[in-house]
Amino acid sequence: MSRIVLYPLPGATAQAGSIAEALRGRADVSIGGCTVHRFPDGETMVRVDPPPPGSQAVLVCSLNGPDAKTVPLLMAAATLRELGALQVGLVAPYLAYMRQDKRFEPGQAVSARIYGQLLSAHFDWLVTVDPHLHRIHDLAEVYALRSRVLHAAPRMAAWIAAEVEKPVIIGPDGESAQWAADVAARAGAPVLVVRKTRNGDEDVRSTIPDLHLHPDRTPVLIDDIVSSGRTLAAALDHLRAQHARPPVCVAVHGLFAVDALDVIRAAGATRIAVTDTVDSAAVAGVDRIPVGADLAGGVLDMVAAGCSRPDSSTSTPGDRP
Ligand code: R5P
Repeated sequence: MSRIVLYPLPGATAQAGSIAEALRGRADVSIGGCTVHRFPDGETMVRVDPPPPGSQAVLVCSLNGPDAKTVPLLMAAATLRELGALQVGLVAPYLAYMRQDKRFEPGQAVSARIYGQLLSAHFDWLVTVDPHLHRIHDLAEVYALRSRVLHAAPRMAAWIAAEVEKPVIIGPDGESAQWAADVAARAGAPVLVVRKTRNGDEDVRSTIPDLHLHPDRTPVLIDDIVSSGRTLAAALDHLRAQHARPPVCVAVHGLFAVDALDVIRAAGATRIAVTDTVDSAAVAGVDRIPVGADLAGGVLDMVAAGCSRPDSSTSTPGDRP
């Protein structure tokens, strides 16, 4: 049986606990200590429990707010390797910087590629959930390590089917049509797709065609990420103008930057659900859809694959926005 030590970065204790719970009986799993001390001058000291001989070290860290987390994460990974871990893996339920996937303006950094190079230099493998794959179609394009991409669509669909009466699924934009159709098929619901134009961080316009075809259904807006909340808010505004039934919002990654939650609620969302990929404390009034068992399956696959040659076992859900 593989010996796996999960090391949660600060804030990821609950996520590591749910992965460990799902691994019990399938692997020899334990939780290792990983502490991060900030010196008054802003530098960081990382300390890890040494991995037992022959064990696989797995750092658990959701990469929302990535800049503060990345230096401790890389220091922990390098230290675990120095201390003899057989392999060093990363479970990043939310993977940062994937939306900056091209040089939109002259001189801009292509963050997805640079960040991918940075993490790839320190880890043997990566498990993540629905990274933002739009112009990048496969993580292997920007990550030179073995990776497993997990999809939240089945969990989201199960939640919708159980919690929402007569749903109609509304996808966030054209690029997500295939993904939205998948969630809808799993939930046994019809699907519509938003026409979206983004003119700035907080300036989003949306229209939803054919809503009148489903007057007796509850609109369920889905998206991969809620960051500023403006994408959902624009679609909610449009629903309100159409006198639709009170809508529900369901997303994979609830980043909820600054006032996002207030903005979404003010725009008319009656219920909001996100998966637990983001490690911020549970937000009051937001339903959580657990994915710990899926992450555990990904860890087992990566550990079983065993070697550290660059390879990707990514399966993409289609072209994502
Ligand atoms: C866009 O392509 C994504 O799928 C999301 O719709 C977007 O990132 C959400 O961002 P925000 O909440 O800031 O509108």
